[in-house]
Amino acid sequence: MEKKPVINQNLKRVRPSGLRKLFDLSKLWRGERPLISFGIGDLNIDLPEELKRTIPEIFANPQATRYGPNHGLKVLREQLRKKYKRKYNVDIDPETQIIITCGGIEGLFDTMAAYINPGDEIIMQDPSFAYIGNQAAFFGATVKWVPSYDDFTLDIEALRKTITEKTKLLVVITPSNPTGAVMTRKQLQAVIDVAAEHDIILLADEAYENLVFKGKPQSALEFNYEKTIVVASFSKTFRITGLRVGTVIAHPDLMRPIYQVHQYVTAVAPSFAQLLVARALEKEEKYVQELIRILDARRKVLMDVMQEIDYMELTYEPNGAFYIFPRVTLPNMDASTFSELMLQELGVVVVPGTEFGQHYTQHVRLSYGFVSQEQIEEAVERFKTFEAKHH
Ligand SMILES: Cc1ncc(COP(=O)(O)O)c(C=O)c1O
Repeated sequence: MEKKPVINQNLKRVRPSGLRKLFDLSKLWRGERPLISFGIGDLNIDLPEELKRTIPEIFANPQATRYGPNHGLKVLREQLRKKYKRKYNVDIDPETQIIITCGGIEGLFDTMAAYINPGDEIIMQDPSFAYIGNQAAFFGATVKWVPSYDDFTLDIEALRKTITEKTKLLVVITPSNPTGAVMTRKQLQAVIDVAAEHDIILLADEAYENLVFKGKPQSALEFNYEKTIVVASFSKTFRITGLRVGTVIAHPDLMRPIYQVHQYVTAVAPSFAQLLVARALEKEEKYVQELIRILDARRKVLMDVMQEIDYMELTYEPNGAFYIFPRVTLPNMDASTFSELMLQELGVVVVPGTEFGQHYTQHVRLSYGFVSQEQIEEAVERFKTFEAKHH
């Protein structure tokens, strides 16, 4: 008889993603009008033309297709040192405090692999990007969720109460996926103070650091808490989600075990992509402004659209990333049912809030990264049709 391979038991702790089901359902869409997807956390905006044009030249460099140093190509680490100095007045040693990873996802994974032991707890704001909790679960940690207020600020008192002897990491994601909420400096300071009071590691996911519509971007590194690990990404800023480049920045002592994991997981991030990002960082502000202009226009249309749909309630201002997280107030309908029906009947993809934590059974995430303004306007009609049908 055939012997079935026994899987790694830790995989059983990982929650299967409900997104797969939505993805399968979207393939079945046979409606007359094209599908409109607010589901995907990607951008339909190409990388800047100017950068695109540098590609042949970058590939002409033999380094582009070879292994580089494990912690990343020097030109890129140097550009990052300059960026954090220029933008945040923070000094980072590019030799000991930066590693370049295959996207932020790898940086998060390496951090979990480096620090999580079975039985540990990590603290996350509910709702949050689900990958992080699942990665931690893979290494045997439990996620403790801290509720948010209606404006998606974190309940600091609740946070304090959640900390136990087993707490290993406190995760902050600002701007947030899935809400697009941006923490104020004061809130971020308050969270860091709690981490410092209890001497726990702060894991700051800064994948959307640049995507702030009002006010200035910020980094947790500015707050000088030694036990901070920043995971950042170039995917969204430079519209290169498929190229897989991110970075981890931390104090050398914290970095060492993360670096060790990185060496054995991917060894190096793609050299070509690193060279491209090094170029892109030279004009980061310009590329960010271009992107913000496009996204902010979509955001405004979407916010207006929300006003027109009676059963979508937005209780805060989504001031960053490219997500909004309204509450669906249709009677007797939770967000999972809503998102399935919305897709099956009207060809609009939205993601239920339960994909991002425990409490948000009535909320949905809408990404405006991959829709045109026209599609957003068209979606309004479909949302209204849904209400007429199901009210
Ligand atoms: C909050 C957050 N962190 C990290 C990432 C990782 O992105 P990447 O691996 O493409 O750098 C994402 C991607 O959607 C994200 O939303």
